[in-house]
Amino acid sequence: MERRLSGKKVAKRIYNEIQKEIEKNNIKPKLVILLIGKDPAAEYYVQNLEKKGSKIGIEVETIILPKTIEQKSLLSKIDELNANNEVNAIMLQKPLPSHLDESEIVMHIKPQKDVDAFHPINMGNLVLDKQGFIPATPAAVLELLSFYEVKTEGKHIVIVGRSDIVGKPLANLLLRKNKTGNATITVCHSRTKDLCFHTKQADILIVAIGKPLFITNDMINENAIVIDVGVNQIEDAEKGYRYVGDVDYENCFEKSEAVTPVPGGVGTITTAMLLKNVIIAYNLQNK
Ligand SMILES: NC(=O)c1ccc[n+]([C@@H]2O[C@H](COP(=O)([O-])OP(=O)(O)OC[C@H]3O[C@@H](n4cnc5c(N)ncnc54)[C@H](OP(=O)(O)O)[C@@H]3O)[C@@H](O)[C@H]2O)c1
Repeated sequence: MERRLSGKKVAKRIYNEIQKEIEKNNIKPKLVILLIGKDPAAEYYVQNLEKKGSKIGIEVETIILPKTIEQKSLLSKIDELNANNEVNAIMLQKPLPSHLDESEIVMHIKPQKDVDAFHPINMGNLVLDKQGFIPATPAAVLELLSFYEVKTEGKHIVIVGRSDIVGKPLANLLLRKNKTGNATITVCHSRTKDLCFHTKQADILIVAIGKPLFITNDMINENAIVIDVGVNQIEDAEKGYRYVGDVDYENCFEKSEAVTPVPGGVGTITTAMLLKNVIIAYNLQNK
Protein backbone atom coordinates (compact mmCIF):
# COMPACT_ATOMS: atom_id res chain seq x y z
CA MET A 1 0.00 0.00 0.00
CA GLU A 2 1.10 3.56 -0.65
CA ARG A 3 2.35 5.41 2.41
CA ARG A 4 0.59 8.65 1.46
CA LEU A 5 -3.12 8.03 1.09
CA SER A 6 -4.01 10.82 -1.30
CA GLY A 7 -7.68 11.65 -1.72
CA LYS A 8 -7.28 13.02 -5.23
CA LYS A 9 -7.31 9.70 -7.06
CA VAL A 10 -10.30 8.56 -5.03
CA ALA A 11 -12.25 11.74 -5.77
CA LYS A 12 -11.40 11.51 -9.48
CA ARG A 13 -12.89 8.02 -9.66
CA ILE A 14 -16.09 9.18 -7.93
CA TYR A 15 -16.48 12.22 -10.22
CA ASN A 16 -16.05 9.94 -13.26
CA GLU A 17 -18.73 7.57 -11.97
CA ILE A 18 -21.17 10.45 -11.31
CA GLN A 19 -20.53 12.02 -14.70
CA LYS A 20 -21.11 8.70 -16.47
CA GLU A 21 -24.40 8.18 -14.64
CA ILE A 22 -25.58 11.71 -15.52
CA GLU A 23 -24.69 11.26 -19.19
CA LYS A 24 -26.12 7.74 -19.44
CA ASN A 25 -29.48 8.75 -17.95
CA ASN A 26 -29.49 12.23 -19.46
CA ILE A 27 -30.51 13.85 -16.18
CA LYS A 28 -30.07 17.36 -14.74
CA PRO A 29 -29.77 17.11 -10.96
CA LYS A 30 -29.83 20.31 -8.95
CA LEU A 31 -28.47 21.20 -5.53
CA VAL A 32 -29.37 24.39 -3.69
CA ILE A 33 -27.03 25.62 -0.96
CA LEU A 34 -28.30 28.04 1.66
CA LEU A 35 -25.53 30.27 2.89
CA ILE A 36 -26.44 32.51 5.82
CA GLY A 37 -24.25 35.59 6.02
CA LYS A 38 -20.66 35.91 4.83
CA ASP A 39 -18.04 33.40 5.89
CA PRO A 40 -14.83 33.04 3.82
CA ALA A 41 -14.31 29.33 4.64
CA ALA A 42 -17.94 28.48 3.81
CA GLU A 43 -17.78 30.51 0.60
CA TYR A 44 -14.63 28.68 -0.46
CA TYR A 45 -16.31 25.29 0.08
CA VAL A 46 -19.46 26.39 -1.74
CA GLN A 47 -17.56 27.82 -4.73
CA ASN A 48 -15.67 24.55 -4.98
CA LEU A 49 -18.96 22.63 -5.04
CA GLU A 50 -20.31 24.94 -7.76
CA LYS A 51 -17.17 24.47 -9.86
CA LYS A 52 -17.01 20.69 -9.46
CA GLY A 53 -20.77 20.35 -9.97
CA SER A 54 -20.78 22.28 -13.23
CA LYS A 55 -17.88 20.16 -14.55
CA ILE A 56 -19.78 16.90 -14.10
CA GLY A 57 -23.32 18.08 -14.90
CA ILE A 58 -24.85 18.98 -11.53
CA GLU A 59 -26.33 22.45 -11.21
CA VAL A 60 -25.32 24.01 -7.91
CA GLU A 61 -27.12 27.20 -6.94
CA THR A 62 -26.10 29.17 -3.87
CA ILE A 63 -28.65 31.37 -2.17
CA ILE A 64 -27.03 33.91 0.13
CA LEU A 65 -29.34 35.02 2.92
CA PRO A 66 -28.68 37.87 5.37
CA LYS A 67 -27.07 37.03 8.70
CA THR A 68 -30.04 38.66 10.42
CA ILE A 69 -32.63 36.40 8.75
CA GLU A 70 -35.42 35.35 11.09
CA GLN A 71 -36.17 31.71 11.80
CA LYS A 72 -39.62 32.03 10.22
CA SER A 73 -38.31 33.46 6.94
CA LEU A 74 -35.65 30.77 6.68
CA LEU A 75 -38.23 28.03 7.29
CA SER A 76 -40.47 29.45 4.53
CA LYS A 77 -37.51 29.53 2.15
CA ILE A 78 -36.94 25.85 2.93
CA ASP A 79 -40.68 25.14 2.38
CA GLU A 80 -40.38 26.72 -1.04
CA LEU A 81 -37.34 24.59 -1.95
CA ASN A 82 -38.94 21.43 -0.53
CA ALA A 83 -41.93 21.98 -2.85
CA ASN A 84 -39.88 22.81 -5.94
CA ASN A 85 -39.57 19.66 -8.07
CA GLU A 86 -36.61 21.10 -9.92
CA VAL A 87 -34.58 21.19 -6.72
CA ASN A 88 -33.38 17.70 -5.84
CA ALA A 89 -31.12 18.52 -2.93
CA ILE A 90 -30.85 21.16 -0.21
CA MET A 91 -27.78 21.90 1.82
CA LEU A 92 -27.56 24.30 4.73
CA GLN A 93 -24.05 25.66 5.09
CA LYS A 94 -22.91 25.90 8.72
CA PRO A 95 -22.16 27.46 11.12
CA LEU A 96 -25.49 29.23 11.53
CA PRO A 97 -25.86 32.54 13.40
CA SER A 98 -26.61 31.84 17.06
CA HIS A 99 -30.15 33.31 17.01
CA LEU A 100 -31.32 30.51 14.71
CA ASP A 101 -32.63 27.17 15.99
CA GLU A 102 -30.49 24.75 14.00
CA SER A 103 -32.32 21.64 15.10
CA GLU A 104 -35.71 22.98 13.92
CA ILE A 105 -34.21 24.07 10.60
CA VAL A 106 -32.58 20.68 9.96
CA MET A 107 -35.89 18.94 10.78
CA HIS A 108 -37.62 21.18 8.25
CA ILE A 109 -35.61 20.01 5.23
CA LYS A 110 -37.43 17.23 3.39
CA PRO A 111 -35.51 14.04 4.27
CA GLN A 112 -35.39 13.02 0.57
CA LYS A 113 -33.56 16.27 -0.23
CA ASP A 114 -31.33 16.30 2.86
CA VAL A 115 -27.99 15.46 1.20
CA ASP A 116 -26.06 16.26 4.38
CA ALA A 117 -28.04 13.45 6.06
CA PHE A 118 -28.55 15.49 9.23
CA HIS A 119 -32.33 14.93 9.46
CA PRO A 120 -33.17 12.45 12.27
CA ILE A 121 -34.86 10.17 9.69
CA ASN A 122 -31.63 9.95 7.72
CA MET A 123 -29.56 9.54 10.90
CA GLY A 124 -31.94 6.79 12.02
CA ASN A 125 -31.69 5.03 8.66
CA LEU A 126 -27.92 5.12 8.92
CA VAL A 127 -27.89 3.57 12.39
CA LEU A 128 -30.43 0.92 11.36
CA ASP A 129 -28.43 0.13 8.21
CA LYS A 130 -31.31 1.10 5.92
CA GLN A 131 -30.75 2.56 2.48
CA GLY A 132 -30.39 6.32 2.33
CA PHE A 133 -27.89 9.13 2.48
CA ILE A 134 -24.57 8.75 4.21
CA PRO A 135 -23.08 12.06 5.40
CA ALA A 136 -20.32 13.13 3.02
CA THR A 137 -17.33 13.09 5.36
CA PRO A 138 -17.88 9.62 6.87
CA ALA A 139 -18.69 8.40 3.35
CA ALA A 140 -15.38 9.91 2.17
CA VAL A 141 -13.48 7.97 4.85
CA LEU A 142 -15.14 4.71 3.77
CA GLU A 143 -14.35 5.41 0.10
CA LEU A 144 -10.73 6.10 0.94
CA LEU A 145 -10.38 2.87 2.93
CA SER A 146 -12.01 0.88 0.20
CA PHE A 147 -9.97 2.52 -2.61
CA TYR A 148 -6.69 1.61 -0.88
CA GLU A 149 -8.06 -1.84 0.00
CA VAL A 150 -7.71 -1.32 3.72
CA LYS A 151 -9.61 -4.18 5.34
CA THR A 152 -11.74 -3.19 8.32
CA GLU A 153 -13.07 -6.60 9.36
CA GLY A 154 -11.80 -7.56 12.80
CA LYS A 155 -9.62 -4.45 13.00
CA HIS A 156 -9.59 -2.21 16.03
CA ILE A 157 -10.55 1.24 14.78
CA VAL A 158 -10.16 4.13 17.19
CA ILE A 159 -12.07 7.29 16.30
CA VAL A 160 -11.09 10.49 18.10
CA GLY A 161 -14.07 12.89 18.02
CA ARG A 162 -17.76 12.13 18.57
CA SER A 163 -19.49 14.85 16.54
CA ASP A 164 -22.84 14.23 14.86
CA ILE A 165 -21.32 14.85 11.44
CA VAL A 166 -18.16 12.75 11.67
CA GLY A 167 -17.41 10.57 14.70
CA LYS A 168 -20.89 9.22 15.52
CA PRO A 169 -21.98 8.27 11.99
CA LEU A 170 -18.55 6.87 11.21
CA ALA A 171 -18.62 4.59 14.27
CA ASN A 172 -22.01 3.23 13.15
CA LEU A 173 -20.88 2.72 9.56
CA LEU A 174 -17.73 0.86 10.56
CA LEU A 175 -19.85 -1.43 12.74
CA ARG A 176 -22.04 -2.48 9.81
CA LYS A 177 -21.95 -6.12 8.79
CA ASN A 178 -20.43 -5.46 5.39
CA LYS A 179 -17.17 -5.07 3.47
CA THR A 180 -16.32 -1.66 4.93
CA GLY A 181 -17.55 -2.57 8.40
CA ASN A 182 -17.20 -5.45 10.89
CA ALA A 183 -14.60 -3.50 12.87
CA THR A 184 -14.27 -3.17 16.62
CA ILE A 185 -14.73 0.49 17.46
CA THR A 186 -13.51 2.74 20.24
CA VAL A 187 -14.75 6.33 20.20
CA CYS A 188 -12.73 8.90 22.17
CA HIS A 189 -13.56 12.52 23.00
CA SER A 190 -12.45 15.41 25.17
CA ARG A 191 -13.37 13.59 28.39
CA THR A 192 -11.52 10.38 27.51
CA LYS A 193 -8.93 9.50 30.15
CA ASP A 194 -5.46 8.68 28.85
CA LEU A 195 -6.24 9.31 25.19
CA CYS A 196 -2.80 8.11 24.22
CA PHE A 197 -3.48 4.64 25.66
CA HIS A 198 -6.45 4.33 23.31
CA THR A 199 -4.90 5.83 20.18
CA LYS A 200 -1.96 3.44 20.54
CA GLN A 201 -4.31 0.45 20.43
CA ALA A 202 -5.58 1.40 16.97
CA ASP A 203 -4.94 -0.63 13.83
CA ILE A 204 -6.72 2.24 12.10
CA LEU A 205 -6.82 5.64 13.79
CA ILE A 206 -9.35 8.20 12.57
CA VAL A 207 -9.06 11.72 13.95
CA ALA A 208 -11.70 14.48 13.75
CA ILE A 209 -11.23 16.96 16.58
CA GLY A 210 -10.33 20.31 15.04
CA LYS A 211 -6.98 20.64 16.87
CA PRO A 212 -4.03 21.40 14.56
CA LEU A 213 -1.23 18.79 14.51
CA PHE A 214 -2.55 17.23 17.74
CA ILE A 215 -1.67 13.59 17.01
CA THR A 216 2.07 12.90 17.08
CA ASN A 217 4.04 9.70 16.54
CA ASP A 218 4.24 8.87 20.25
CA MET A 219 0.43 8.51 20.16
CA ILE A 220 0.25 5.91 17.41
CA ASN A 221 1.00 2.24 17.08
CA GLU A 222 3.79 1.04 14.75
CA ASN A 223 2.14 0.34 11.40
CA ALA A 224 -1.13 2.04 12.19
CA ILE A 225 -3.15 3.45 9.33
CA VAL A 226 -3.93 7.06 10.19
CA ILE A 227 -6.87 8.90 8.67
CA ASP A 228 -6.94 12.63 9.31
CA VAL A 229 -10.32 14.32 8.95
CA GLY A 230 -9.27 17.60 10.56
CA VAL A 231 -8.88 20.82 8.59
CA ASN A 232 -7.35 23.71 10.53
CA GLN A 233 -6.10 27.07 9.38
CA ILE A 234 -2.83 28.07 11.03
CA GLU A 235 -0.50 31.03 10.66
CA ASP A 236 2.29 30.74 8.13
CA ALA A 237 5.27 33.10 8.05
CA GLU A 238 5.45 33.08 4.23
CA LYS A 239 1.87 32.72 3.02
CA GLY A 240 0.05 34.28 5.95
CA TYR A 241 -1.90 31.09 6.64
CA ARG A 242 -2.03 27.45 5.61
CA TYR A 243 -4.17 24.39 6.28
CA VAL A 244 -3.09 21.45 8.41
CA GLY A 245 -4.87 18.42 9.81
CA ASP A 246 -5.39 17.16 13.35
CA VAL A 247 -2.47 14.80 12.75
CA ASP A 248 1.14 15.92 12.49
CA TYR A 249 1.63 14.30 9.07
CA GLU A 250 5.42 14.72 8.78
CA ASN A 251 5.97 13.45 12.29
CA CYS A 252 3.71 10.38 11.91
CA PHE A 253 4.73 9.45 8.35
CA GLU A 254 7.66 7.13 9.18
CA LYS A 255 6.03 5.28 12.06
CA SER A 256 2.65 4.71 10.46
CA GLU A 257 1.88 2.21 7.71
CA ALA A 258 0.04 4.93 5.84
CA VAL A 259 -1.38 8.36 6.54
CA THR A 260 -3.68 10.82 4.76
CA PRO A 261 -2.35 14.29 3.92
CA VAL A 262 -4.12 17.60 4.63
CA PRO A 263 -4.94 19.20 2.28
CA GLY A 264 -5.46 16.57 -0.41
CA GLY A 265 -6.87 13.79 1.77
CA VAL A 266 -10.34 13.14 3.17
CA GLY A 267 -11.59 16.70 2.41
CA THR A 268 -10.99 16.25 -1.31
CA ILE A 269 -13.23 13.18 -1.33
CA THR A 270 -15.91 14.82 0.84
CA THR A 271 -16.93 17.23 -1.94
CA ALA A 272 -17.29 14.31 -4.35
CA MET A 273 -19.42 12.32 -1.87
CA LEU A 274 -21.70 15.30 -1.32
CA LEU A 275 -22.29 15.52 -5.07
CA LYS A 276 -22.86 11.76 -5.16
CA ASN A 277 -25.62 12.29 -2.59
CA VAL A 278 -27.25 14.75 -5.03
CA ILE A 279 -27.57 11.89 -7.55
CA ILE A 280 -29.05 9.66 -4.84
CA ALA A 281 -31.55 12.46 -4.05
CA TYR A 282 -32.42 12.81 -7.73
CA ASN A 283 -33.03 9.07 -8.02
CA LEU A 284 -35.17 9.03 -4.85
CA GLN A 285 -37.41 11.72 -6.32
CA ASN A 286 -37.62 10.22 -9.79
CA LYS A 287 -38.11 6.54 -9.02
N1 LIG B 1 -12.45 16.86 5.74
C1 LIG B 1 -13.75 17.09 5.81
O1 LIG B 1 -14.48 16.86 4.90
C2 LIG B 1 -14.31 17.61 7.11
C3 LIG B 1 -15.68 17.63 7.35
C4 LIG B 1 -16.13 18.01 8.61
C5 LIG B 1 -15.21 18.41 9.57
N2 LIG B 1 -13.90 18.45 9.25
C6 LIG B 1 -12.89 18.85 10.23
O2 LIG B 1 -12.82 17.82 11.21
C7 LIG B 1 -12.53 18.39 12.48
C8 LIG B 1 -13.63 18.01 13.45
O3 LIG B 1 -14.84 18.54 12.99
P1 LIG B 1 -16.24 18.29 13.75
O4 LIG B 1 -17.26 19.10 13.10
O5 LIG B 1 -16.43 16.82 13.91
O6 LIG B 1 -15.84 18.96 15.18
P2 LIG B 1 -16.68 19.20 16.49
O7 LIG B 1 -18.13 19.12 16.26
O8 LIG B 1 -16.09 20.41 17.11
O9 LIG B 1 -16.26 17.93 17.39
C9 LIG B 1 -14.96 17.78 17.84
C10 LIG B 1 -14.85 16.49 18.59
O10 LIG B 1 -13.50 16.34 19.02
C11 LIG B 1 -13.46 16.08 20.43
N3 LIG B 1 -12.26 16.69 20.97
C12 LIG B 1 -11.92 18.01 21.00
N4 LIG B 1 -10.74 18.16 21.60
C13 LIG B 1 -10.31 16.93 21.96
C14 LIG B 1 -9.16 16.44 22.63
N5 LIG B 1 -8.19 17.26 23.06
N6 LIG B 1 -9.07 15.12 22.84
C15 LIG B 1 -10.03 14.27 22.43
N7 LIG B 1 -11.15 14.67 21.78
C16 LIG B 1 -11.28 15.98 21.56
C17 LIG B 1 -14.72 16.73 20.98
O11 LIG B 1 -15.05 16.11 22.20
P3 LIG B 1 -16.38 16.51 23.04
O12 LIG B 1 -17.51 15.85 22.30
O13 LIG B 1 -16.15 15.91 24.36
O14 LIG B 1 -16.46 17.99 23.02
C18 LIG B 1 -15.71 16.46 19.86
O15 LIG B 1 -16.29 15.18 20.01
C19 LIG B 1 -12.38 19.89 12.22
O16 LIG B 1 -11.03 20.18 11.97
C20 LIG B 1 -13.17 20.12 10.96
O17 LIG B 1 -12.72 21.24 10.22
C21 LIG B 1 -13.43 18.05 8.06
